Amino acid sequence: MKKSGDMEKKIDALLAELTLEEKSKLIHGAEFFKSGGVERLGIPGIMTSDGPMGVRNDFYPDRWYVKGTSADYVSYLPSNSALAATWNTELAHTAGSVLGREARGRGKDMILAPGINVKRNPLCGRNFEYLSEDPYLISAMAVEIIQGIQENDVSACVKHFVCNNQEWARHTVNVEIDERSFREIYLPAFEAAVKKGKSYAIMGSYNLFRGEHGSESRKLLTDILRKEWKYDGVAVSDWGANHDTVDAGESGLDLEMGINADFDKYYLANPLIEAVKKGEIDEAEVDKKVRNILRLMLRVRMIEIELKEQKNGKVRAKAVPVEDRDPGYYNGHIMHHYALEAAREAVVLLKNDRKRLPIKPSETKRILVIGDDADRQHSNGGGSAEIKALYEITPLLGLAREYGGNTEIRYAKGYYVPKKKVEEVNWQETSIMEIFTAPEDRERKLKAEEKKKAKELRDEAVALAKEYDQVIIIGGLDHDFDTEGMDRKDMKLPYGQDELINAVLDVNPDAVVVMIAGSPVDMRSFKDRARAILWMSYNGMEGGTALAEVISGQICPSGKLAETIPECFEKTPVAAFGDYPGRKINAAEKKRMKACEYTETYKEGVFVGYRYYEKYKVPVQFPFGHGLSYVDFKYSGMTVKTTERAVEVTLKVKNCGIATAKETVQLYVGEKTPSEGNPVKELKAFSKVELKPGQTKTVRFTVPKKSLAHYDEAAGGWVKLSGAVSFYAAASSADVRCRKDVNI
Ligand code: BGC
Repeated sequence: MKKSGDMEKKIDALLAELTLEEKSKLIHGAEFFKSGGVERLGIPGIMTSDGPMGVRNDFYPDRWYVKGTSADYVSYLPSNSALAATWNTELAHTAGSVLGREARGRGKDMILAPGINVKRNPLCGRNFEYLSEDPYLISAMAVEIIQGIQENDVSACVKHFVCNNQEWARHTVNVEIDERSFREIYLPAFEAAVKKGKSYAIMGSYNLFRGEHGSESRKLLTDILRKEWKYDGVAVSDWGANHDTVDAGESGLDLEMGINADFDKYYLANPLIEAVKKGEIDEAEVDKKVRNILRLMLRVRMIEIELKEQKNGKVRAKAVPVEDRDPGYYNGHIMHHYALEAAREAVVLLKNDRKRLPIKPSETKRILVIGDDADRQHSNGGGSAEIKALYEITPLLGLAREYGGNTEIRYAKGYYVPKKKVEEVNWQETSIMEIFTAPEDRERKLKAEEKKKAKELRDEAVALAKEYDQVIIIGGLDHDFDTEGMDRKDMKLPYGQDELINAVLDVNPDAVVVMIAGSPVDMRSFKDRARAILWMSYNGMEGGTALAEVISGQICPSGKLAETIPECFEKTPVAAFGDYPGRKINAAEKKRMKACEYTETYKEGVFVGYRYYEKYKVPVQFPFGHGLSYVDFKYSGMTVKTTERAVEVTLKVKNCGIATAKETVQLYVGEKTPSEGNPVKELKAFSKVELKPGQTKTVRFTVPKKSLAHYDEAAGGWVKLSGAVSFYAAASSADVRCRKDVNI
């Protein structure tokens, strides 16, 4: 980020005009989603909004009620879990630019996105908001999303810094981790987001990290963010994540936001003013925060700073609005088109025995679609990521449109989803109070009449499945499971879906299974039986269209899993080594750590996701990076050349099929003989290429040698990989197509 001397001078001049009370206004919330401004000097408040899948609906400034007008319908983009499955950085960029443009169109200055926490635990309720288990893939996608957002005179706010990897006890769990794993797995994407993506803002986390709450941590926000990374953007607290005036005041935090309407009582409001007056906090600390806030306002062109020299030679400063600031817009057709483009590549073909798919419209007269998720809209759920989508094409609607009037599309619900209580007030009002259910009690027991209904639905679907040649079961999760504030208790499919799917497969072994979920589910009961399985996360307003186009063969699937689908929670590294959901802390620890109840040590270290399954040879349902196409690709002719600074890899990829298709070539690197503490191989580059039938393309990778390194705690720095190193060109982490060993 360019920090011009001229700009800094202007910021200092405006800062000099401000009283302590006015400075305080700029650094805490004055509304739930807006910081305070200083009218006297023309400084506005920063208007923020969630979240990763679109611009959230509007709330009253001081009550957790949605305004409920029709003005806040927006485009609904694929969730980050879906977007990551595209492995397409251009699509990540356009998704970001849609988000930024719509945010601006809705009058926002900052969009609270993207969420980039590492998917360490498949049970984490917010995994759908995050990108991947792999730091390289997260970084590559996040940088583009951020740059796309910020093209629109609006700030991204990458979140939640850091180790916010579970929702259970998210306010009170302390994370402990060894330095190497922290540096190699959890920090890189945040570092890329601020250094390469140049995110103007970053959000702290609720959880504690090594004894300090993320949103006021000196280790994270001062030492790493400010000192190591030289970050001059704005560090925002998560909503209600602060616990102490001195910590919030002296750490690298700039803006305290909250969920209570007593804005004057926020730590950085009156308590901060008092602390400065009493000499407990140096006003220079407050000035640092204000500078960062004003800098962000200049960067997103909320204001310009005018300087005027007085007769006495003194320079006075005030803020004025920038007349030609990008006004943005929302719900444009082009946005829906971009949402569709991303959605298409987010559909992952997990399995396709004996070419079960596609189901060609010309050869199909009747299709039976089974499952609640076929007919469910997901956009308005999940917690702060909820949005009011202008429209959402369900899979059922998508299929009906795709196949047209000559094909009968019959629908059967198949499984029973209990009705939810509709709350008038948003859940966020009470979100700080840890009232959420523990991972144990998520799915409510059905009452007798509901059980009867569930059986009727299943029987109806099974009876129909006997009559139809083409049966598509569409199930998975919904935002009662993939949601903020709660983790799942296990990876099992809810609502009796295992029973339903197996009963349908009993009578129709060719039935296609589609799983819609924001995090892995246990498919073992039918995984080997079903001939075709498709995977799709919450895939935006055009998700149903994209799914139907893949099923009909209109387009070839090209999504790849951005996270491993393990067999079950018990077989994950978190279960094998960790102490999830956290060990109750003792009295001495309680004294040391404010507002803390649990400690969780990330004992699996760097062995997160595929790094673990590969190292410990633990079988999974589907590996990281996996995703089939309707065509086959041939990889050949791999070359590896080392230069002083980098390793150059080339290889050829051929489309051996009869349709145009895309393939993501993944480049993994590891020691030829992996040493004890290291993963076998790690993703270091990838490239998605489009190939016409019979076409061959050369794929090139340049891997900087400095990215081939491990963090050595004893040495206090990165140690480059040397000796015999293997380069793997692969179609997934478990499907290596070419390998070359070189000495580095
Ligand atoms: C979430 C954030 C969100 C904020 C504002 C918090 O509960 O953790 O991700 O941006 O609320 O809604």
